[in-house]
Order: sequence, then C-alpha cells, then structure tokens
Amino acid sequence: MEFNITEQKKYYVNGIPKQWDGPVMKVYSPILTNGVATYMGSYPMMDKDAALTQLDCTIKAYDKGRGKWPCMSVENRCQYVMKFIKGMESKRKEVVTLLMWEIGKNFQDSCKEFDRTVEYLEETVKVAMDMDKSYKEIKNDGGILAQIKRAPLGVTLCMGPYNYPLNESLTTIIPALIAGNVVIAKPPKIGVLLHYPLLEVFMESFPVGVFNMVYGDGPTVISPLLESGKIDVLAFIGSSKVGDILKKQHPHPHRLRCVMGMEAKNPAIILRDADLSLTINECLAGALSYNGQRCTALKILFVHEYIVGDFVERFAKAVDGLKCGLPWEDGVQITPLPEPGKIDYLNGLIDDARKVIKSDMEAGLPLIQCKSGEVRVYGSVGTLTKNGKVVMNESWGEDPNYLTLFKPAVVFPVNEKMRLYKEEQFGPIVPIVPFKYESDVMDYIVNSNYGQQVSIFGNDPDMIREMTSQLVNQVCRVNINCQCQRGPDTYPFTGRKDSAEGTLSITDALRVFSIRTMVATKDGNLNKKLMMSL
Ligand code: G3H
Repeated sequence: MEFNITEQKKYYVNGIPKQWDGPVMKVYSPILTNGVATYMGSYPMMDKDAALTQLDCTIKAYDKGRGKWPCMSVENRCQYVMKFIKGMESKRKEVVTLLMWEIGKNFQDSCKEFDRTVEYLEETVKVAMDMDKSYKEIKNDGGILAQIKRAPLGVTLCMGPYNYPLNESLTTIIPALIAGNVVIAKPPKIGVLLHYPLLEVFMESFPVGVFNMVYGDGPTVISPLLESGKIDVLAFIGSSKVGDILKKQHPHPHRLRCVMGMEAKNPAIILRDADLSLTINECLAGALSYNGQRCTALKILFVHEYIVGDFVERFAKAVDGLKCGLPWEDGVQITPLPEPGKIDYLNGLIDDARKVIKSDMEAGLPLIQCKSGEVRVYGSVGTLTKNGKVVMNESWGEDPNYLTLFKPAVVFPVNEKMRLYKEEQFGPIVPIVPFKYESDVMDYIVNSNYGQQVSIFGNDPDMIREMTSQLVNQVCRVNINCQCQRGPDTYPFTGRKDSAEGTLSITDALRVFSIRTMVATKDGNLNKKLMMSL
C-alpha cells in the first residue's frame, strides 16, 4: 500500500499560510520496510512563542464573546461546518491511508473511523439546528417571560488520543465550534500527519482565527496555554495522569470546564449459564479489536469456576485463529503496535504473571484461586496450570516477521497479586480470572479506580437483574450479552472515577460545550413585544 511522504512545513497564523523553518519531529510508521521503521515525513515542533501566537489568534476571534463567530446564529455556524464536512470527505483516501500507516489500524476499521466521524458530524449539525429551533420559544412561568438558550463558553483546547486520532479529535472540535466556541487543537503524539490533509480544509471552511492548531511536545506547547489562564474549556482524551497535570496548570481551575475521556479496565462477567459461543465471539471482538487499544476494550474477564476450563480452552483457540498481518491485508485483525516500547511493556506484564505463579508454587499456595479460595479446573486447562504455565494459547508474543506486532496472549489464572489484575494493558493481552461467587467480582468493580462500562454474560433474569441494579451505580453502561463499546453515538458515553469527566454523544457534546443563558422580563405588552423582537 503506497503513501506519500508528508513533510509538513506549512502552518497558519491568522488564516495566513506560513513556512515553518524551526525544528521538526520525524515520523516513523510502526510498519517496517526491509526491517526498519518506514519514514513517513515530519511536522513542526513548535516552541512556546509559536503556541502562544496560535492562542492569540484564537482569543482574537472570540473577542471575549463579542466576536463574529460566538455572536453568529447556530444555523450560520452549521453552514460553515457543512462546508468543512464536504471538504473532509474529499480527503477520505488520504486520511485512511495515513491512519493505517501511522497508527497501524486495519483498513476496515480505518474506513469505519473516517465514515463514522463524517456521520457523527452530519448528525451533530441536524441536532444543533433542532435544539436551536426549540430555544426560540418564549416561556411564561408565574408572569415571568423567558427565552432560554445555550451560549458558548469560550476558548476551547481539544486534544484527542492516538487510538482514535481522527474521530476523538473531531467529535470534540466540531460540536465545540457549533456551540460558538473557538478552538485550538493539538494532535496526539502518534497520529499527527493524518491531520495535515484536513488543516487546509479547516482553514478554507471557517472564518479566520476560529480554528487553530499547535504541534509539538505537550509540556512545551500545551502548558503555556493552560498557564495563561485563557483556556475556558479543556476537551482531553488520554490518561487521567496527564489530565490531572493539565487541569492543575490553569491558574483558576474553577473557570475551566473539563470534558475528559480517560482510561478504563472494563470487566466482562461470565456467569455459569452463559452461552459460550456468543460470549466467546463478543469477548474476542471486545478484548482484541484494534489489538485491544480501545478505552472501551474488555480488559479483564471474570469467568465462573463451573465453565472456566471450557471457556479458556475455547477462547484460546479462537484467539489463535485471529489473522495477524499488515493493516491493508484482507481479514487482518491483529496489526503492528504504534507505541514505542509497547512490546517490552506487554512482555513485562506476562513476566510479572509468571513470577507471581512461580512464587505461589514455591509457597505451596493453590495456583488457581479466587477471592473465596481455591478453584478446581478440570481438563487440559487444569493440567497446563499445574505446570506453572500462564499463557494459555499456542501462538502469542512478538512476531519476528513484523517486530512491532504482538500476537495476543490469553493469560490464566490471573490473581490479585498480578499487575494485569489492575493495570490497564491497552494492548493484546486478555487476563482471565476465575470466580466462585458473583460478590467477588462485585467487590473488584466497587474497589476499582475505573468506572466506564461492564459486560455481563448469562441468561438467568433474576441474577442479571440483581447484578445490573448494583452495577449501574458503579459504571456508566452495563452491557448484557454483548461487548463494551462507545456507539451508537446517540447514546451517552461517559464514566465514573478515573474514567471520565463530562458526557459525550451527539447531543451531549453540544450541551457540554455550552452553557444555558436566558433573557427574562415581566409579562406585559411592551416587554412581550421587546422579547418577540429579539
Ligand atoms: O478508545 C475509546 C473509544 O471511544 C472507543 O470507541 O467502543 O467505538 O471502539 P469504540
């Protein structure tokens, strides 16, 4: 699959194209050519001054809420967005190709990311126009007339993640713009060049200063923006560790509206009466789509002791059947990993699991255990674990043909002493924990730092009802007999604890990037006339 090398030298100041002569960051693909990382191009490494110049352009366009953009009608703003969507569609091939090369996402999922984003933006326009129509109504409560609408918040800093660099950037940028905010955006560390074809589209579609981009190292270009106190909204998708650092940099944190999507460790709870074929298919997609690099991925599976042996055996076989290869190859599911050092990190998690098992063996502890004690597992899985084996599938680990590809590992039996029990692996390892009582799993979820979603697999209505009634107070989406996921995008996407702040969806994003404001008066002929004229 061919791509064009992108040497990004162009950036914009106040809508005027400029040539970047400063330092650049070279980009290498996780896909190797003749054994070495493929060179893809470069982008500007801005310094503090360049970043603050971008901020100044953005601030000027907002003009403390008096600028043309924040004062424009929603309908007019939507016209600009529709022009952007049209321009964006013409870049599909280029962006999809760069998605594959830059972040290693397979062809099908790269196309899906692009198309889903276009649909999301189109729907956002429709919903924004409908919402706006409803704000035209004049209400009368107890003799007070009021027109209630939503108004922008100000200068919005948008930062997307590497796993959905296009979707999770544009699904904050565009709703923020439609709501009347002005935006300054920074692409993720990995997945930068794919934004370049859209930069020109942005510049051609929106009035000067309404949208600006910064490129470079976070502490150099992002910290000064937040420390300036001039950012009103932070839309950040990434780790809670970085999210906390960013929030603290604002001198007046109470003035900063935060919309954050952060890490998760979504569990699957597989009950003793679960339909194993359905469960295996859902867990396979849930844990390993895009190599497990989704915040919504199933990152730990709890399986009832009664079926755990059978489940592990069948699941391990299914995992071995996944096709590994390059993103554009037909039917490929497992692809090269873009994060530097990721393979060492994944091997480290497996070594840690091995060490725990070894020390448990030496201490004479039961190898397969859960919170309530020893678990007996019969069949081949039981025999394997007796020998201290922790990876249950045949074909796993670093692939010598690709070097950056890690064939998925099914790790069993995982216990609370292992890093895999709590740490978000964000990669192709599936940890499996046996359980005797549902309350053991509930304790895990209640005490977890994360609270995004959970999946339960089973068929007993009483059990599912009982568990769901508790789980809805722990996470923000309980999936019954299906994997965790964000979509459809009309549904609220959020999380508790370290997993999220604020809610996103087509409608929720328009709300979260705006504030309610109203005009009110006492009922009376003259006042009524004045209100009607607004
Ligand atoms: O990485 C987090 C994404 O929002 C997950 O979205 O469930 O549609 O893959 P998805």
